[in-house]
Amino acid sequence: MGRIAYVNGRYVPHGQAVVHVEGRGFQFADGVYEYFAVFDGKLADAAGHLERLWRSLSEIRIRPPMTEAALMIVMRETVRRNRVRDGAVYLQITRGTAARDHAFPHPDTPPSVVVTAKSVDFRAEQAKADRGVGVITTPDNRWGRCDIKTVGLLPNALAKQAAREAGAYEAWLVDDLGFVTEGASTNAWIVDADGTLRTRDTNANILRGITRKTLIDLAEEAGVKVALRPFTVEEAKAAKEAFITAASTLVLPVVRVDGAQVGDGKPGPVGLRLRALYEQNARETAV
Ligand SMILES: Cc1ncc(COP(=O)(O)O)c(C=O)c1O
Repeated sequence: MGRIAYVNGRYVPHGQAVVHVEGRGFQFADGVYEYFAVFDGKLADAAGHLERLWRSLSEIRIRPPMTEAALMIVMRETVRRNRVRDGAVYLQITRGTAARDHAFPHPDTPPSVVVTAKSVDFRAEQAKADRGVGVITTPDNRWGRCDIKTVGLLPNALAKQAAREAGAYEAWLVDDLGFVTEGASTNAWIVDADGTLRTRDTNANILRGITRKTLIDLAEEAGVKVALRPFTVEEAKAAKEAFITAASTLVLPVVRVDGAQVGDGKPGPVGLRLRALYEQNARETAV
């Protein structure tokens, strides 16, 4: 059985899953998205992702196309039709289709909704975590509303490509003062020389990662000291450990920053423990 996508009210074969040429997402990146990890066919951290989705929609003034409950039904059905046990769901909502004009279309224009689901080999992902990954650093040249999870991801895509061309997995974006903001598609963390877990506070121009938020709670419950304080690239290189978080990576140890080894160049105990705690909690609380 082939993959199935949900597009504006229909479940269609992946190869025929298309949106209109005058879709506002295609023309203006005028839309928002979410990405959920799926465990045992259920959505991880669903409440957090839905809450952020509603906030993103509200910030750019797209009216929700359906209730949260209806959206959950569509996402679960997409998971079911794709026979996903462990994997991910991608959800995109745009301002819909209208004759091309920068200003908003008529308020009756229905938003466009797309949902896809895929399987992920979490054993391979665990093997990647056990090896650790490298990151490069590059200037953060994004717009000033990175708290909105918009589909306008060109700076992120360029940064990620630069990382891949440098043989690294992720790009850490760096502000004008030399502090890491976040990754191209992940939040950034270190365990500093004092053993304190550090990640940037969300007053900064970053995405309020749901994995980040859950992990802060889990780390504190596990007795790890957490400080919502930014770190420089030099601090990251001198850190005991580093890692990234996202629904797509869970907790993924970083062992190289711009080619410099972090700690002993192997994933550290804090990162690996937090990965296990996160995955266990996500499996237990998925709905
Ligand atoms: C720029 C950016 N930062 C952080 C994250 C991590 O967010 P979450 O943990 O909600 O997946 C993402 C995820 O897509 C992202 O694109």
